[in-house]
Amino acid sequence: MEKMHKPSLTKARKRSKTLVETKEYKRPEIINLGKGKKYLIQTHGCQANEADTEIMQGLLEEQGFKKTDVIEQADLLLINTCAIRENAENKVFGELGRLKSYKRINPNMIIAVSGCMPQEEEVVERILKQYQHVDIVFGTHNVNKLIEYLHFVIVEKKRLIEVYSKEGNIIENLPQARDHRFKAWVNIMFGCDEFCTYCIVPYTRGKERSRNKDYIIKEVKALIKKGYKEITLLGQNVNSYGLDFPDNNYSFANLLEELANLDIPRIKFTTSHPKDFSDDIIEVIAKYDNIMPFIHLPVQSGSNKVLKKMNRKYTKESYLEVVEKIYNKIPDVSLTTDIIVGFPTETQTDFEETIDLVKKAKFEGAYTFVFSPRKGTPAASYENNITEKVAKARLHKLNDLVNEGYLRGNKRFEGKSVKVLVEGYSKNNKSVLTGYTEHNKLVNFKGDDSIIGEIVEVYIEKAKTWSLDGVIKK
Ligand code: 5AD
Ligand code: SF4
Repeated sequence: MEKMHKPSLTKARKRSKTLVETKEYKRPEIINLGKGKKYLIQTHGCQANEADTEIMQGLLEEQGFKKTDVIEQADLLLINTCAIRENAENKVFGELGRLKSYKRINPNMIIAVSGCMPQEEEVVERILKQYQHVDIVFGTHNVNKLIEYLHFVIVEKKRLIEVYSKEGNIIENLPQARDHRFKAWVNIMFGCDEFCTYCIVPYTRGKERSRNKDYIIKEVKALIKKGYKEITLLGQNVNSYGLDFPDNNYSFANLLEELANLDIPRIKFTTSHPKDFSDDIIEVIAKYDNIMPFIHLPVQSGSNKVLKKMNRKYTKESYLEVVEKIYNKIPDVSLTTDIIVGFPTETQTDFEETIDLVKKAKFEGAYTFVFSPRKGTPAASYENNITEKVAKARLHKLNDLVNEGYLRGNKRFEGKSVKVLVEGYSKNNKSVLTGYTEHNKLVNFKGDDSIIGEIVEVYIEKAKTWSLDGVIKK
């Protein structure tokens, strides 16, 4: 016996005109569901998932669940999944396969799958058929229902599949148990209406909805009070923040400026869309010292033909114009990007256009990917005659160039002092502290734990491709 509500990609594609309402979270009547119990959440994918995980941790801890890192000790194991590329999904299926043996040892362990993968019809069918040890499957639109689902499964001892293909209301005041003590994610909007032809996100995360600014400001003020030093504003396309408001008179630039006037040392944001990166956003970043001079601006391709097929709504030339404006107003900015190679019909000449753009834009980092067809998206049915070998060779060549950019970006800080938000000890070396600069560069240096969570001055002695080595200034 099961409780079941399955996803539909056809429904997920639709965009309704009805305005999304904002509701405050009401705790269910359930109490102490997790008393004496432990949970483990594995988070895959982007920061939106990390932010959702922090909410689910908050919901669980409110019920008395305690976190564990040891699978064998977990009464609840939740996998928060990512659907962006096939290899992300394969990892999750591999993990689900392995979990079968844990369930044999501990039959009371509850296994749950959440996030973007359950939003896909085929994934749910596969879980139902091949992974019967999974107890709960829910998607991105009902994270706030986690406790009710757990209660149902524990009490009724039945499986529950509850995936909605239409976004619900925006739920405010959800509890959060954040993973960091001085760096925080702050959602400013949900969903995406861009429909880039390769991308599954508009289907898995629903239509674009901006959070009411009063709730965002309240959240940031509370973080400041708790001593947080850095916030990252999150959205699939943060530049279009506010465009869905009926009066449409408060933009991302307005929000950024209002937040920059609060007493928070560092603000950054991700992700931006080049077509919406307006002059007033650039002006605000340039004007405020606490907005980090670090911009992630996904370009995806340097070929106008490919950009058109991707439905990116800009050209190589207009992208480079935005980049030039950014460099003019924020000369020391560190610019990074996302690039896909092997998109259907990408020729060697198209690829060379991408290489040319990477050189012109002077990126100091990039996430690079081979195109992965996602079922239900337009590009999945485009004829694709690019072999894996060719795609991999392009990726390799691109990565060599991108890595030169990482090194160039790091080199410019050699012999200079930088401000570092100290995160903690390096994983590999317990006597070395690590942290990030305002330009989002990783720094390693010697020091003691009393400065963890502080912003300190570090003198950079040596720049490497992936990190900087420095000494703390006394
Ligand atoms: N194949 C490969 N890369 C993709 N991305 C999104 N969808 C796909 C896909 N189907 C990349 C884009 C995006 C980043 C988050 O992931 O570059 O900016
Ligand atoms: Fe995907 Fe494009 Fe939306 Fe980014 S802007 S989430 S790539 S559809």
